[in-house]
Amino acid sequence: MTEYQHVTEDMSVYRDGTIKLHGPEGYEGMRKAGRLAAEILDELTERVVPGVTTAELDRVVREMTLDAGAVPATMGYRGFAHSCCTSINHVVCHGIPADKRLKDGDIVNIDVTPLLDGWHGDTSRMFMVGDVPLKAKKLVEVTYECLMIGIAEARPGARLGDIGAAIQQHAERQRYGVVREFCGHGLGRLFHDAPEVVHAARAGTGPVLKPGMFMTIEPMINLGRPHVKLLNDGWTAVTRDKSLSAQFEHSIGITEDGCEIFTKSPKGLDKPPYGAAA
Ligand code: MF3
Ligand code: CO
Ligand code: CO
Repeated sequence: MTEYQHVTEDMSVYRDGTIKLHGPEGYEGMRKAGRLAAEILDELTERVVPGVTTAELDRVVREMTLDAGAVPATMGYRGFAHSCCTSINHVVCHGIPADKRLKDGDIVNIDVTPLLDGWHGDTSRMFMVGDVPLKAKKLVEVTYECLMIGIAEARPGARLGDIGAAIQQHAERQRYGVVREFCGHGLGRLFHDAPEVVHAARAGTGPVLKPGMFMTIEPMINLGRPHVKLLNDGWTAVTRDKSLSAQFEHSIGITEDGCEIFTKSPKGLDKPPYGAAA
């Protein structure tokens, strides 16, 4: 049975397995953290070019985050030492920023989570490096559609499984694989909280969505099979069949009549192509 709890100041930081129902203060905090997260990704659009290293991009993320009075929640998170995740081509998620240069034709996901005034804004987008093959562009496009189709299901009275079902149906229609090992999550004062938001599910199953719930939706979609494996660094997840993988992530809050997306780009740069030149 699902348990819910209206959030009070003294319990909002505890992970007790219940689904938290936040009030106006939570929405205010998430709006600010989510906006900063989106602005950081906006800033990266012009910097993700052939020849740049992911470590350089990580530095930009860290400086922008700190300048805004926030902290990158990934720094020191379970031993992760960086300000964002950079997942290139067949890397599914949790790629570690490094001195490796991006090259023409790469696709890369950048995932940022500033912690601002106690609230987490968690979002990621795909970036295309130079000229990207049509197959990769199509994967990126459909993955963004998967995110937005999932978000369209997020309203009071719907079930959590409705989100995953919509995403899975859209991805599998293109014969893409939906990653099962990683999922979206509740968040707020905590980075990762209940519930688990799976991206492949049966409609009509799972907890009922209620106003005040905060969660991420962050489908990882593979051009090939859904299976992943973890590299020896303990973080980097890659597709088993080495096929390309894409992901987009928003943080949302359930409202009285639907949901609010906290991490929408103020500049409308939610999906590529980001520039007039692209
Ligand atoms: N931002 C990721 C998510 O969407 C989590 C990254 S944790 C890290 O949940 F340690 F890998 F950075
Ligand atoms: Co997340
Ligand atoms: Co994230």
